Amino acid sequence: MDTLTRIGHLRAAVHAQRAPGAVIGFVPTMGALHAGHLALVDAVRGRATCIVMSIFVNPLQFGPAEDFAAYPRTIETDTAAARDHGVDLLFMPTVDEMYPAGCAVAVTPGGLDARWEGAARPGHFVGVLTAVAKLLHIVQPDVAAFGQKDAQQVALVRAMVRDLDIPVEVLVVPTVRDPDGLALSSRNAYLSPAERQQALALPRALAAMEHAWRTQRVTAATELEAMGRAVLRESPAVALDYLGIAEPERLEPVRSVAAGSLAMIAARVGRTRLIDNVIFSGDPAIR
Ligand code: PAJ
Repeated sequence: MDTLTRIGHLRAAVHAQRAPGAVIGFVPTMGALHAGHLALVDAVRGRATCIVMSIFVNPLQFGPAEDFAAYPRTIETDTAAARDHGVDLLFMPTVDEMYPAGCAVAVTPGGLDARWEGAARPGHFVGVLTAVAKLLHIVQPDVAAFGQKDAQQVALVRAMVRDLDIPVEVLVVPTVRDPDGLALSSRNAYLSPAERQQALALPRALAAMEHAWRTQRVTAATELEAMGRAVLRESPAVALDYLGIAEPERLEPVRSVAAGSLAMIAARVGRTRLIDNVIFSGDPAIR
């Protein structure tokens, strides 16, 4: 595995991998790697002849009161995990390399960031899309993987790729969870053991909504949302930010829940903000 920090060097290294039949796979991350990130690597491995991963804590997507400075940075274990998982090229640019003085142009999400995470974190998705657009132009992958864990990010990346004609296939990977149900997140490291216990209310509430839809045929979004909120109320340390059900493309709220609809929750547990979601699937294999 080669580690590169300069855009020009990364471009040259990817260029050297291009040949007829070569497939460049890409996994963008902010590091503090866990099994969720590595599942993205596994997902592209089946498709790609060369796997590129980026680790870049992107200042543009953090609000002024958010955790940019404190965001976990675990470069040594990340490098070892990437190498062990078959990453070929690891791209770790500095902030100055990505955003040199004077750079000003950004990607705006249109109205797609008006709700949910976009409403809770103004400017967040401008930062995400600008970083992802730059990374896609730097790496020029054939396929790039994103986690369903960040459902609105997935919807926005898909929309950007479509609307800006970026020639890449977007691969979406199901959320990886700990055995107790908690979705893996770099921010879980902030949770005390007691908070972690309380945080399990998020996957529990999502599972309750999906279960009621699938087994009791409850389809009214308001009814399912009330069930989810009732589960969350059992955990007093969970401060709900939003809970809602939407269609998966524009994330507009739905009245009647159908296969493919998405239930999303954001909540604070202590000082840690967590998000999670479930797709109403109708697939009995999914619990
Ligand atoms: P980060 O939070 O590091 O996540 C990198 C990728 O891993 C994202 O596509 C995210 O959805 C995915 N991921 C995180 N937790 C996961 C889980 N439990 N299961 C499956 N996939 C999971 O998302 C970002 O970084 C940034 O916004 C980025 C896209 C890199 C742009 O800066």
